[in-house]
Order: sequence, then structure tokens, then C-alpha cells
Amino acid sequence: MDFQATIDADGRIEPRDAMPDGYRKTLIRQIAQHAHSEIIGMQPEGNWISRAPSLRRKAILMAKVQDEAGHGLYLYAAAETLGVDRADLLDLLHSGRQKYSSIFNYPTLTWADIGAIGWLVDGAAIVNQVPLCRCSYGPYARAMVRVCKEESFHQRQGFEILYTLCNGTPEQKAMAQDALDRWWWPSLMMFGPPDTASTHSEQSMAWGIKRHSNDELRQRFVDMTVPQADVLGLRVPDDGLVYEDGHYRFTEPDYTELYDVVKGNGPCNQQRLAHRVKAHEDGAWVREAAAAYAAKKEARAA
Ligand code: ACO
Repeated sequence: MDFQATIDADGRIEPRDAMPDGYRKTLIRQIAQHAHSEIIGMQPEGNWISRAPSLRRKAILMAKVQDEAGHGLYLYAAAETLGVDRADLLDLLHSGRQKYSSIFNYPTLTWADIGAIGWLVDGAAIVNQVPLCRCSYGPYARAMVRVCKEESFHQRQGFEILYTLCNGTPEQKAMAQDALDRWWWPSLMMFGPPDTASTHSEQSMAWGIKRHSNDELRQRFVDMTVPQADVLGLRVPDDGLVYEDGHYRFTEPDYTELYDVVKGNGPCNQQRLAHRVKAHEDGAWVREAAAAYAAKKEARAA
């Protein structure tokens, strides 16, 4: 079946199938950006592994941060099926020519931020990624199935951190509220610009890469999250929030902040990228050793 017929029949495009150049490029851009987000996303939480309040919390957080590394690996592998090389994608990230999610440019100031990341950021990631399990490109869709299962564990562990704080001392509850106040708007921005300003949505939806628009998913996230804030006894920091016709109407985030953060001017952009580049350089000996070992094994087999 040719490309368009497969898309029209809601089938899956596989790596060896013919595909338009634009489809391939769009997927490489989105999957690489997604992979970069997973590995940069390890930093704000990794920052708290040594300061987690108990051994149990530390073990859970370490497992979660490792999961994010694993997600990055599945996604780089999915991108490679499109004919690109992981090393080149990392170079594009390190030189600022490819992006990663805006959300990871905000600091984690307190332990409650670790709860807020799990609850809100991983919650937003689930809303965005569950539809990607039906993406028209097979390897990306299949990678998303496992990623979403793990994200749902992450979301619950974040909620549970906040639930514990909200049922603790008044200071702990105030810390949870402060985290929600700071992470709410950046979480809404994760879904990207409003539909009217989204450059890729229309074409990506026509190709079955994206299944819903940025605004549809943002609304879904708000509808899911506001009742959860009520369970925690926290206040969503939006005076414009009203329940109407089965949905929570909300105030749009300030998108100039999103554009500014994406341009590199968020509170932690420089720190995140510098840390990533240093980790890559420090790991050069591991890559060299692995390549030398593979070459030796190959030579022996020959
Ligand atoms: N952070 C950084 N850049 C963004 C963001 C964001 N939150 N939202 C949009 N952009 C960029 C787009 O990459 C695009 O840039 P480009 O044209 O220079 O490549 C531009 O803003 C315009 O946006 P859209 O046309 O709406 O872009 P797109 O159709 O790709 O939609 C979205 C953006 C929704 C993020 C999409 O790419 C997507 O679903 N990606 C997969 C999920 C993902 O990457 N999640 C990462 C965070 S989740 C996690 O790691 C826990």
C-alpha cells in the first residue's frame, strides 16, 4: 500500500516503507526533541536524589530518573529507524540546533517540586503521549506504549509525595502549594503554543503523527488535574478557573514566557545545557572503550 493509502486507512508506516521527505523530517524533529527532553529532564530531579527525605523516597526517585534515561534510549532508537545517527542528534542538542521541552528549564527549589514534577509534568506528559501510542509511525507509537506505562507510575509517585505533604504540617502543606503555584503555568505551556500559533499541528495531524491539537490536550490536562488538586486541598493559581459544560475554563498561560524559554532565556537553560555537554564529554572514555571492545570482538570473529 502506498503512503497516503496507509495513512487514510489509519495503518502504520514502518521504517522501510516509502514516506514523503517532510513526514520523515517532522518525525525526526519531534522524536529527537522528545528524546532530548527525556534526558535533560533527568537533571531537575537528579538534583534531589541526594536530598530525598528517606531511603524509600531516594530509591523511588532513583528508579524514576533511570526510567527517564531509558525513555531517552527508546526514543533515540526510534529516531535512528528514520536514518539518522544518535551521535549527530546529540551534537544538534549540544549546539542548540535542536530543542528540548521548555519545562525542564525551571529550578527544583524544594522537595515539593519533586512531587509537582511527577504529578503535573508527568501528568501532562501522559496526556500528550497516550495519543502518540496511535501515531502513524510504528516505531514511535510502540515506544510510547511502554513510556506511558512508566509515566503513569511517575505521576502517581508525584501525587503521593504531595498527598503526604498536604496531610503533614502547615509548613509542608504551604510548600506543596508553593510548588503548585510555580509549576502550574509552565506545565500548561508544555503543550506548546496555542493552535492559532502552532506551525506544525495541521500537517502533523493530517499525517496522523499528532492525534489532537495542542489546545485540545491542554484542556484535557486541566480537566484531569483540577479535581486532583481538590483532593490534595490545594488551590490552582488561576482566578479565572470556572467549571462550565463539563470543562474547566482556564486562563491561558503567558505564551511570551514560553517563547522566551524556548529561545534559551529560561531560568536554567544555560545550566541544563552546560551540564549535559559536560556529562557527554566526561563519558567520552566509555564510548571509546565500548567502540574498541566491539571492534576487537568483530576482528576476533572475522
Ligand atoms: N518546549 C520547547 N519547544 C516547544 C514546546 C515546548 N513545550 N512546544 C512547542 N515547541 C516548539 C516546537 O518544537 C516547534 O519548534 P520548531 O518549529 O522550531 O521545531 C515550535 O515550538 C512550534 O510548535 P508546534 O508547531 O506546536 O510544534 P509541534 O507540532 O511539534 O508540537 C509538541 C509541540 C506538542 C511538544 C509536540 O512536538 C509533541 O507532542 N512532542 C512529543 C512529546 C514531547 O516532546 N514531550 C517532551 C516533554 S515530556 C517529558 O519528557 C516528561
